[in-house]
Amino acid sequence: MANEGSAKVTDDREAYVIQPLPSKGGFLCLLFYNAILHMHSDYLYTCHAWFNDYTRSFHSLEPKLEKNIDLKLRHTARVCDNISRIAKSLHLGQEELALAEVLALLHDVGRFEQLKDYGSFDDRITTDHAALGLNVLSRAGILCSLPKNERRLVRRAIWLHNKYEIPETVSPRCLLFSRMIRDADKLDILGLIVEHFETRSKNPNPALDFGLENCPGHSHEAILDILEGRMVKIATLKNLNDMRLMYLSWVFDIYFPVTLYCIEERGYLKKLMASLPQDCEIVEAVDFIMDYLNRRGRIFI
Ligand SMILES: [Fe+2]
Repeated sequence: MANEGSAKVTDDREAYVIQPLPSKGGFLCLLFYNAILHMHSDYLYTCHAWFNDYTRSFHSLEPKLEKNIDLKLRHTARVCDNISRIAKSLHLGQEELALAEVLALLHDVGRFEQLKDYGSFDDRITTDHAALGLNVLSRAGILCSLPKNERRLVRRAIWLHNKYEIPETVSPRCLLFSRMIRDADKLDILGLIVEHFETRSKNPNPALDFGLENCPGHSHEAILDILEGRMVKIATLKNLNDMRLMYLSWVFDIYFPVTLYCIEERGYLKKLMASLPQDCEIVEAVDFIMDYLNRRGRIFI
């Protein structure tokens, strides 16, 4: 049986356990524990102040750039909301919730330099925006006031937020936070992309098209990835249909039931599916995704 001070995450796929308070020397330990609690919520406040100050300098009079700076600011705010919803679904404590929000706030901080320097979100032709973000955070020293373990956790989860997969070697706690940020991020990007595809003819945004053409056809490799239950790799994208297939395939990486519920509730997959041509291979891939969702307990789209 767990110690009284411990709090186990209820999702039984997680081995993550919040460390219990020591039973002796309780008062001093409690003071220390409370200091950490307050530090996290105060630290979140400090991070917001730094983030607002840092990103203010990127606003531009150039409308296309300003539109995408604003897009990333709004994305960051929604990813904070998403991660909070995910963390609450796992019944994480206040300090873990605050740390998750710090992670969400900082996860895409590299996007601002990327946009300013390259005018693109495409990591393939610019620089990995997670690496850019970690450089920004190192220069700013904003993570220095965190305990070493927390600092390493935040840095590692930022690095992993945009990678194809999480290595098996990460610690259970890093795995938890990496999964949370990846889910929170993908949930918002799916909404953003669905809106983009619905409005791109009237309101084009080349930064979201990654230089791909909206032409007929699709890549066979994208279909194969889906039929193997894998995310479509960005390197295989040849046109916007491939990109639509890639975003659909993100469901294979979604981990938490609450994220899947939100994706479904907002109709993102249905809208993406409707925007694809009804070609035999695509129908087969879409059927595979539907079967996968059914196996995960999804009851409607
Ligand atoms: Fe990102």
